[in-house]
Amino acid sequence: MNAPAGPVAEAIAPVYWILFFFAAIVLVIVVGGLVFAGIRFREKPGVSAKQFHGHNLLELLWTVIPTMMVLSFSIISFQRLLFINDVSTNAEMTIKVVAQQWTWNFTYPNEAAFKLSDGTPLTDAEELNIPANTKVRLDLSSKDVIHSFWVPLIGGKKDAVPGRATELWIQANQPGTYKGQCFEFCGRGHADMLITLVVHSKSDYAAWQKDAVAKANLFNDPATKTGKELFRTLACSGCHTIKGLTGGKVGPEETHIASKPNIAGVLSPVNAENLTRWITKPSAVKPGTLMPDLGLPADQIDAIVKFLLTQK
Ligand code: CUA
Repeated sequence: MNAPAGPVAEAIAPVYWILFFFAAIVLVIVVGGLVFAGIRFREKPGVSAKQFHGHNLLELLWTVIPTMMVLSFSIISFQRLLFINDVSTNAEMTIKVVAQQWTWNFTYPNEAAFKLSDGTPLTDAEELNIPANTKVRLDLSSKDVIHSFWVPLIGGKKDAVPGRATELWIQANQPGTYKGQCFEFCGRGHADMLITLVVHSKSDYAAWQKDAVAKANLFNDPATKTGKELFRTLACSGCHTIKGLTGGKVGPEETHIASKPNIAGVLSPVNAENLTRWITKPSAVKPGTLMPDLGLPADQIDAIVKFLLTQK
């Protein structure tokens, strides 16, 4: 369950276990010797303590052995640091990460597949989506205080520092969801400054990309704004509540309609096609429903649907 899930974590884990193993041996020898000497040479009546000055062999041993140990730990660590710190070799994409109290903002590469209709690249907060088996470079910075990016099973931890660029690379072996956490105390919300790393198989990534870009584009679409205005001014508002917009109480609340499992209990999922069908002629979908057939023109329905899909 806690097995390393990427090359960086795989490089770090053995160093941890080697250090742990030798630390355990040192602990046993030092504490064992201490306890042994304490019992064996404790004060006894009629015996006076012998006085020593120097012991060449012992002194040599407890100097040379720890020196060799520390040297070899340094060597295996440095070897791996070269690999862990090499953010550019074979990196296939770069994602900009901006930390702030208390969230993570991710900006995807400025390339065609991530481009929104307004020309800016896709951005998102908290959740980072990457393809599996792909070296992804992260450019880190911070808007306020020092934060630290860390997804333990993937490995690698790097501070996000205001006014200074830092970088890190991540790679995951398998699709899945990995939890991460800000690792630098950054104020009251520190413990809640979580990262969700979603890893898609290479073949699924393009589909996620398309979907994420389409969803983000809905917010920029002028029709979404029109739809909001229509929802507020047409009959919709008389029956439905969308928090911050309308207060109708006759029909069900629709504040988070785009996150609901279905429309009016009968149409699933909540997507453009089903919303259009429903609003066009509710009575055809759910006979006897109280929602009237408003007979709206197609472009108005389209605008309202686009607006509703942004309500999550
Ligand atoms: Cu951000 Cu701790």
